[in-house]
Amino acid sequence: MCAAARERGIAVRLAVIGCGYVGLVTGACLAEAGHQVICTDIDRERIAKLNAGGVPIYERHLDEILRSARAAGRISYTSDAGEAIRAAQAVFICVGTPPKESGEADLSAIDNCARQIAAEADGPKLVIEKSTVPARTGLELSRALAAYSRNGLRFRVASNPEFLREGTAVEDFFHPDRIVVGVEEPSAAAELREIYRPILERSFHCPIHNGACPVGPRGEFLVTTINSAELIKHASNSFLALKISYANVLADLCERIGADVEEVTHAIGLDPRIGGQFLKAGLGFGGFCFPKDVQAFIHLAASVGVDFDILKATERVNKERIDRFMEKVAKALWVVKAKRIALLGLAFKANTDDVRFAPALEVLKRLLADGAEVHASDPEAISRTKPLFPQVHYHEDPYAALQNADAALVCTEWDVFKRLDWERAGKIMARKLVLDGRNLYSPSAMRDLGFEYYSFGRA
Ligand code: UGA
Repeated sequence: MCAAARERGIAVRLAVIGCGYVGLVTGACLAEAGHQVICTDIDRERIAKLNAGGVPIYERHLDEILRSARAAGRISYTSDAGEAIRAAQAVFICVGTPPKESGEADLSAIDNCARQIAAEADGPKLVIEKSTVPARTGLELSRALAAYSRNGLRFRVASNPEFLREGTAVEDFFHPDRIVVGVEEPSAAAELREIYRPILERSFHCPIHNGACPVGPRGEFLVTTINSAELIKHASNSFLALKISYANVLADLCERIGADVEEVTHAIGLDPRIGGQFLKAGLGFGGFCFPKDVQAFIHLAASVGVDFDILKATERVNKERIDRFMEKVAKALWVVKAKRIALLGLAFKANTDDVRFAPALEVLKRLLADGAEVHASDPEAISRTKPLFPQVHYHEDPYAALQNADAALVCTEWDVFKRLDWERAGKIMARKLVLDGRNLYSPSAMRDLGFEYYSFGRA
């Protein structure tokens, strides 16, 4: 990019490889912010769906942004990675890095991107790794690009981890608390600053606040080494996971001692050094990020001789949540076999259709193994769960799932479940029994309605 262009803040031509949650949100938001984006994916069906105007994932605001960016001619899709790579000045790698059996991150998709970029590029490119990867991946990526390149092109590599939460990903992208860029040379940082300039200066039309974003601190643009940037990502997610497991052990303790975990976490969270977020006790964390990132971080640490013991405990505590919950279920129901169970929530958290590593599905698996008849309800995740568990009865309407149920199990913290009319539910259930895996209701209010009610860390 020439200096004059930089001063004017003109659109940068970007390619995004991988149209999953991260890639699609990144591509859509950068296009909406004014850049020219071309997205590619090896999944041809996904590209066809996007080309036909569809959105393959549920994420608030994503459909409207994709529509408006497309109408403005700023986003396009191709299954030809070469076309996307050649069209771009900078290439974002947003492919999956799933866990291997050992917990180590599988980086084969990143390696594949390196091969594609080296083979297809017709000029030097800035290659930005956005996928979550263990520290030192950027350096390996640099080496791979150099090794695979046949025409002497030089690629610069940067790490730009994402901190988006599913469900609020678009909002997080437009209003980040930090933008971390790990680089080896200042020109890469300058190019990334240009790419993020509309976000940093809030010079884009915010689709969420209709242009009138709340005044508040703007995200910091942090330039670090590539290794640090990669480490920051794993360290952030692992710390949040650690907080959740800490709250969950507190819940166990509260149950034994006769204290209330909600009171305890609320009070400790008021200390700004601790903070109130991610202290919600319950079924624990799931999704495609925390479980695999904690594992990958433990693995990375071990590979350099550091024993990250507290993260091993974090993982163990989290897995035990399901056991604790199923113990409560078995105790309340006595015999689970042939019982009709209303399972409220399938997604790994609210406001997403994502069921990957969802605690709810682990509960579902155990219920089915015990011979229960499961009636599940979820506002968004039914279609993703159905192929995995065709033997389950699915209901859009939670009250239909609750009809004649021997027990209701709450597994996801959706607002619709928070607002359920339990008086109405009590009249249609076979037994007024609720096992709340997300501490959504007040135990005394449930008792007043005549329910037998169990949750985590509360009397
Ligand atoms: C997480 C991080 O929050 C993002 O910053 C990060 O970018 C993302 O991973 C990623 O690596 O891509 P996400 O996986 O969307 O985002 O989900 P979270 O909102 O962090 O929730 C994770 C899990 O923890 C959910 O299952 C949720 O129900 C659970 N949770 C969360 C609790 O059990 N208790 C809490 O107090 C908070």
